[in-house]
Amino acid sequence: MQYFKGSHATLRDVREDFPIFREYPRLVYLDNAATTQKPEVVLDTLIRFYKSENSNVHRAVHRLAERATHLYETARHTIASFINSRPEEVVFTRGTTESLNLLAYSLSLIENYSAFIVPEFEHHSNFVPWQQLASRFGKEFVPLEIRGFEIDMESFERIIHGQKRPFVFAASGLTNSTGYRLPIDQVIRTVHKNGGVVVIDGAQLIPHEPFDFKQSGVDFLAFSAHKMVGPTGAGALVGKKELLEKLPPFNFGGEMIDRVELHDTTFAPVPQKFEAGTPNIAGTIAFAEAAEYLLSLDKANVSQHIRMLTSYCHELLSGIEGLRLLSPQDSHGIVSFTHERVHPHDVAEFLSRNLDVAVRSGHHCAQLQMRRLGVKSTCRASFYVYNTVEDVESLAAGIKQALRWFG
Ligand code: ALA
Repeated sequence: MQYFKGSHATLRDVREDFPIFREYPRLVYLDNAATTQKPEVVLDTLIRFYKSENSNVHRAVHRLAERATHLYETARHTIASFINSRPEEVVFTRGTTESLNLLAYSLSLIENYSAFIVPEFEHHSNFVPWQQLASRFGKEFVPLEIRGFEIDMESFERIIHGQKRPFVFAASGLTNSTGYRLPIDQVIRTVHKNGGVVVIDGAQLIPHEPFDFKQSGVDFLAFSAHKMVGPTGAGALVGKKELLEKLPPFNFGGEMIDRVELHDTTFAPVPQKFEAGTPNIAGTIAFAEAAEYLLSLDKANVSQHIRMLTSYCHELLSGIEGLRLLSPQDSHGIVSFTHERVHPHDVAEFLSRNLDVAVRSGHHCAQLQMRRLGVKSTCRASFYVYNTVEDVESLAAGIKQALRWFG
């Protein structure tokens, strides 16, 4: 079947691009929200860099250094065009967590911003930095109440309209624990009308749907390579240039300076101001290769394929007695569930041990979301570009088997 229209790739072609499925032919990998598998081209890029292109960037003028710098800066252009931003608006980081910590710290140093507002459903990486830094720097921290897995729009409007001074609203575009999609356009309009800036944690969103940074109007966006078929340890913080220019740097060190005096230092322009020290050069170049790979399949095709699998999963799992689905009906890429009697860890372990089906169980680094759902943990199946309808069927059959086994 021609799943990836216009790209000449069938689903079988796509699976063949990923060596892990040759290594483990029975593997049903449904833990993509934690990390995705890597295609051969991404792995080759990493090896090629260390084998024949290895050098530091932005420092030396020898041939290898110039080549490495060229590849690294080309990666910036690729990632910028992947989300439609300007290249100088892309700051390379170690991933979403570092991007969000950088932002929370730098925004804390700007006196103008008086409050940090964050929904309760956030992954800890987009909750704890704002909570901790607000307390350290004397800002107001406002956890935004949620209803089940959704933002409570009434509380949201009330809190946002009540802000008297500039503030920061930080939220996931797509939550990692339930796959809830934030109404981003509406959120951005309301926050901007009331003098705030919007930070979107795009760790789950960017791998799953086409996103236009410029057109969206979002102020900052964070995401990771490893959740979009790239390597671990690489990611990006994308910010409007005029805002990035106002932010103080997060890390100090080599290559982020302009001039160093005995008692003062001036900094390089953005994005270099935020990239102190030797970056993850190979990982960043491979990050761009991952983006190219997804582009070769067409972002809209990828999104449509994942939507189809998620909705099929809803359909099959909702027919299993005793199972409670903890994801919105239109969740994207993620289906969370619990059973009235069997613990999520038992289900996950049974699926893996007996059937080679990999799902994540636990609180998914979102304890407050779990509490709002009235559970301690869930099982979470998450889909990506190489998953098949048979994978969804294996999951459903495996859950039924597990439930029979546990009586
Ligand atoms: N944030 C990743 C997850 O949701 C690790 O599993």
